[in-house]
Amino acid sequence: MRIGIPQETAGQALVAATARTAGQLQELGYDVVVESGAGLGAGQPDGAFARAGVRVGDAAEVWSSEIVIKVRQPSGHEIARLAPDATLISLLAPATSPELVEQLREAGITAMAMDAMPRISRAQSMDVLSSMANVAGYRAVIEAAHEFGRQFTGQVTAAGKIPPAKVFVVGAGVAGLSAIGVAGAMGAVVRAFDVRPEVGEQVESMGATFVTVDMEAEVSADGYAREMTEQQHAATAAMYAEEARNADIVITTALIPGRPAPRIITADAVSQMRNGSVIVDMAATNGGNCELTRADEKVVTDNLVTIVGYTDLAGRLAAQTSQLYGTNIVNLLKLLTPEKDGRLTLDLDDVVQRSITVTRHGETLWPPPPVQVAATPRIEEQPLAQPAGAHKVAVKSRRKAYLLALAAVLFSLMSAYSPSAFLGHFTVFALAVFVGYYVISNVAHALHTPLMSETNAISGIILVGGILQVGNTNPVVTVLAVIAVLVASINITGGFLVTSRMLDMFRRT
Ligand code: NAI
Repeated sequence: MRIGIPQETAGQALVAATARTAGQLQELGYDVVVESGAGLGAGQPDGAFARAGVRVGDAAEVWSSEIVIKVRQPSGHEIARLAPDATLISLLAPATSPELVEQLREAGITAMAMDAMPRISRAQSMDVLSSMANVAGYRAVIEAAHEFGRQFTGQVTAAGKIPPAKVFVVGAGVAGLSAIGVAGAMGAVVRAFDVRPEVGEQVESMGATFVTVDMEAEVSADGYAREMTEQQHAATAAMYAEEARNADIVITTALIPGRPAPRIITADAVSQMRNGSVIVDMAATNGGNCELTRADEKVVTDNLVTIVGYTDLAGRLAAQTSQLYGTNIVNLLKLLTPEKDGRLTLDLDDVVQRSITVTRHGETLWPPPPVQVAATPRIEEQPLAQPAGAHKVAVKSRRKAYLLALAAVLFSLMSAYSPSAFLGHFTVFALAVFVGYYVISNVAHALHTPLMSETNAISGIILVGGILQVGNTNPVVTVLAVIAVLVASINITGGFLVTSRMLDMFRRT
């Protein structure tokens, strides 16, 4: 089958495939043709495609392909150019574009919306919204820094003290976490808020302060937020105004899928912000989180607060975004081409393929059945109160009691028959196991890396102890010492290898 990669509409720098990802599509058996000039905005000239062995053709050939892959929603004119029965893979925003869905259905197109990818682990490698929001969060901080006119890092210089910039991020989803990371790395003091309290740990592990509001919050069942209640609104409104007043830069990313962006920063709150402050409203596409945002514009208020409402933040890093988008597409096509024979096979029993298929053979398949993914297990769903659960708990505690009784009997026998020196060592060993178990099982996820260093240090002590005992006259002690040396060495070497791999992830190439 032929895959066509058209030029996006005027003003769009993004392209649905780079030379590298177009080559990967060919490896799946497809004949790929890219419209001449389509990749220029993303730093992918025709020559780059040709060098990767990908054909460069004209618009007519691209649009008549069996599969057409785009970034932005197609226009009516573009839909008319598609072959009957063609498959279109693109961002479609089907939840907010019923007319477009209807047009695609009428044209008999099989339309797949990349932006409808469910947020489940299996679909992560195809999640274009995350790829784009991640880049856009980065770019939001760059735009803010550009408008701010001061540096982010605090410094003490001969000419005076420079305070660090204060950044407040609203919404700690993909874009928010990316912005938090970049602003923190640039030296700003970052605070963040999200209606989903479960993201607090992630925010804090990135070095930012998670702002909390005293309100009843619902744990997310699918990784997305729910609409706030009246009571939650009242509790957060005062906090937003207060945080905005104290911040130099506010980056808003609050989103509830399929709804207009929640209004977070009011005109009144903006009027109380300091001169020279900047708001980057990433939700401008959906109406804006700030009352004064104008989509695709930069507004400067009377009190000199700059409000940036660009909706093409990811497109402003076109080379990067196109590469990520192209890789997401390759991963989807791998799923759709199980035989790697260049033939697209759609399996609507597969939850990922069903979720993104909007129309097919004149039929509308939108909306898809909901996909439930528990981001954090719901505490109230644990069946403690149910009879079966209660029975399980009772069995568990009975087993624990038997084990404790058995341990007590063994310990008494040992105290009666073993030498006193052994008993002393054994008591220390038993206590160490007990304390170690409770300390390690209560360490937060964010602290697992320092915990690993600590276990490496303990392994070092074991190694020294083992080496000292290897020459012991008692063969049992020698064997145990050799085992201790072996296991401790594996732990230490493994620890260093893992640490080195982690550090490589942060090293510039
Ligand atoms: P996401 O769903 O991963 O994150 C949104 C976060 O907002 C969630 O954590 C949610 O709990 C939180 N939230 C919802 N209502 C809230 C409220 N009232 N107060 C505080 N937090 C609230 O979404 P993602 O992918 O991070 O995208 C964020 C926004 O960025 C979206 O509006 C998206 O359209 C926009 N975006 C904009 C781009 C641009 O160029 N301007 C490019 C890419 C994304």
